[in-house]
Amino acid sequence: MSHKVYNWQLKKEIIYKHEESRPEKQIAWVFDTNKCIACQTCTMACKTTWTCGKGEEYMFWNNVETKPYGFYPLAWDVKLLEKLGKQEWDGEKYAGVTIFGAGEEGEELLGHTPEDRDWAHPNIGEDEVISQIEDGDYFNQLPHLSWMFYLARICNHCTYPGCLAACPRNAIYKRKEDGIVLIDQERCRGYRKCVKGCPYKKAMFHPITGRSVKCIACYPAVENGLQTRCVENCIGKIRIVSWLNTPDKAIEDSPIDYLVHIKKVALPLYPQFGTEPNVYYIPPIHVDVKYLKQMFGPGVENAIKVYRSGDEALVGLVKLFGSTDKIIERFKVEDGYAIGFSKGEEIIRVPVKEPVIIRKFHDEKLDVYRHSVT
Ligand code: SF4
Ligand code: SF4
Ligand code: SF4
Ligand code: F3S
Repeated sequence: MSHKVYNWQLKKEIIYKHEESRPEKQIAWVFDTNKCIACQTCTMACKTTWTCGKGEEYMFWNNVETKPYGFYPLAWDVKLLEKLGKQEWDGEKYAGVTIFGAGEEGEELLGHTPEDRDWAHPNIGEDEVISQIEDGDYFNQLPHLSWMFYLARICNHCTYPGCLAACPRNAIYKRKEDGIVLIDQERCRGYRKCVKGCPYKKAMFHPITGRSVKCIACYPAVENGLQTRCVENCIGKIRIVSWLNTPDKAIEDSPIDYLVHIKKVALPLYPQFGTEPNVYYIPPIHVDVKYLKQMFGPGVENAIKVYRSGDEALVGLVKLFGSTDKIIERFKVEDGYAIGFSKGEEIIRVPVKEPVIIRKFHDEKLDVYRHSVT
């Protein structure tokens, strides 16, 4: 049985296995791709917390791949994009099919199952650049003719999860209180339809337990008002996690609503898959827009323009990324400071413009010389 549900990212109704039933609150992340340095600290923060057991060696619930040549598992996105066929947009409305309308005979949705060895090279393609340089081209312009960027990926805790729709055991559920998608380890029987059905390949089979597992959105932390491990530990401070409303209920001083709905500077990853993913990306400003449009949808040019505009509230909010271990529910920018709030209380305050302090070569008080020659 299938139902018509509304997908606001595609601005249209799509077919889904279950009726539309949005959670009371929806967890959502924003990643600023312009700031990621591929240090993989996020990857290891997740790994050492959740997947350091036997049988979990190959698992990276958080991974960071270099686009366009990096994939984990191998070719995860290009394989599905090819199967899905032409993906056209009519302005902001998606005109093509989603994975839910394109399933093969007897299948709930379109998917593919990676082979074991496809998971074996999580950092394949790292730092490999795509080059479109011809004789006479030069570099002093954006986007670059020669580019690559880092794409950090976790489970999207989708509004219409492909993994959930694919499971014949109904072992996957989306929590009413926060929208986190989990696999019930008691109910799971290892059918692996979820591995095939997740378009982002974020459901993974555990060969020791014989069940599938996935990113759990660090729910013990989130339940206590704390950010997830991959956000808290991000060296580049590219991430924020908080709550997202639907566009009609957007709240101006909610950090995620502001970035996604008000400024429209953060965009979903492959929205055309149809799952309404809840990790949003500020697209890289130096990359070929045609490539980015296939990856993040038709809002790319606007997002880049807004990001480069220097808007003070936006700059301030981006400064709040990675500034505290607590979930910032509201924010404001005033008198040169970005301030984050939780439950009405101020929890963090950072300067929008960081002060530049030039130290004297000779510190008279300590009588030492400070220089950067080592
Ligand atoms: Fe399920 Fe994949 Fe969406 Fe995560 S990203 S909720 S595993 S479909
Ligand atoms: Fe891992 Fe938690 Fe990040 Fe999910 S939210 S990828 S479980 S650290
Ligand atoms: Fe990128 Fe942050 Fe992960 Fe480093 S920790 S790879 S900067 S997302
Ligand atoms: Fe269902 Fe996936 Fe388990 S399809 S039974 S949750 S392996």
